[in-house]
Amino acid sequence: MTYSETGIIATIERLTGVNVTALPREQLDDIDQYHAGGPEAIERLIPHLALTAGTTALDVGSGLGGPARQIARTTGCNVVGVDITPAYVDAAQALTDAAGLTAQTKFYRSDIGSFDQTGFDAAYTIHVQMNIADKKAFYSEIARRLRAGGRLAIFEVCRSADGVPALPLPWSLDGTDSHLTTADDLRDTIQSSGFTLLDWADDSAWARQWFDDLGKRLSAGTAAAQLPALLTDGPARMLNFAIAIATGAVTINRGLFTV
Ligand SMILES: C[S@@+](CC[C@H](N)C(=O)[O-])C[C@H]1O[C@@H](n2cnc3c(N)ncnc32)[C@H](O)[C@@H]1O
Repeated sequence: MTYSETGIIATIERLTGVNVTALPREQLDDIDQYHAGGPEAIERLIPHLALTAGTTALDVGSGLGGPARQIARTTGCNVVGVDITPAYVDAAQALTDAAGLTAQTKFYRSDIGSFDQTGFDAAYTIHVQMNIADKKAFYSEIARRLRAGGRLAIFEVCRSADGVPALPLPWSLDGTDSHLTTADDLRDTIQSSGFTLLDWADDSAWARQWFDDLGKRLSAGTAAAQLPALLTDGPARMLNFAIAIATGAVTINRGLFTV
């Protein structure tokens, strides 16, 4: 099982030497965002989601909750996160409570297919569908939970036509739970799941630069504890991810849709 880490809050406190209630947001940002691009990637998505105070977004595959908290904080909206990994949901809620965002941001352990809330103004998936075999069913379930005119933003990993990234990867230790598809196929599948395309971009060069900059910060000693320190085999997974982006074996794609 890939997402097998437990005791996440205790690990964060051991890594940082700080109780999570006192952890500076900038330091948490390096740990709780489980995707290429960190908080900078979320900054690029936010304007497209058209979120304001009083609106509610659905975060599908919410992980440790970093993107949800950043979006709630930045826009004033409410965010509901769903994820199937119990320890991640518990950690996301604990970090949210520690950040004082409990009223705005809630996390549930659930598969999207059995989640009982609907009428969301927007939804997003960030580095999640690589684990999903039936992508049409997955995005159709998201479409059913949006109000008419609601938006979907995605920031996802795809494979190139002949790309075979080396394992382990952030989303898969042994390959059995990796279901990569091409960017064209992902975009078409989302459109066939009830969505209309508004925008589609290849952010691979941007993500490659982000990894380059992170490497420089690490070698200069100016980066604090990073997400890989939390994960089983984390450094190897993140290094393989950076190499796969640099060699073009995988692409990072950003998309915006409406329903
Ligand atoms: C690479 S992490 C990304 C987490 C988060 N979106 C972020 O960017 O920080 C992938 C997440 O997807 C979740 N996940 C995988 N399959 C899922 C499914 N069928 N339904 C909901 N969440 C799922 C995992 O538990 C994990 O938290």
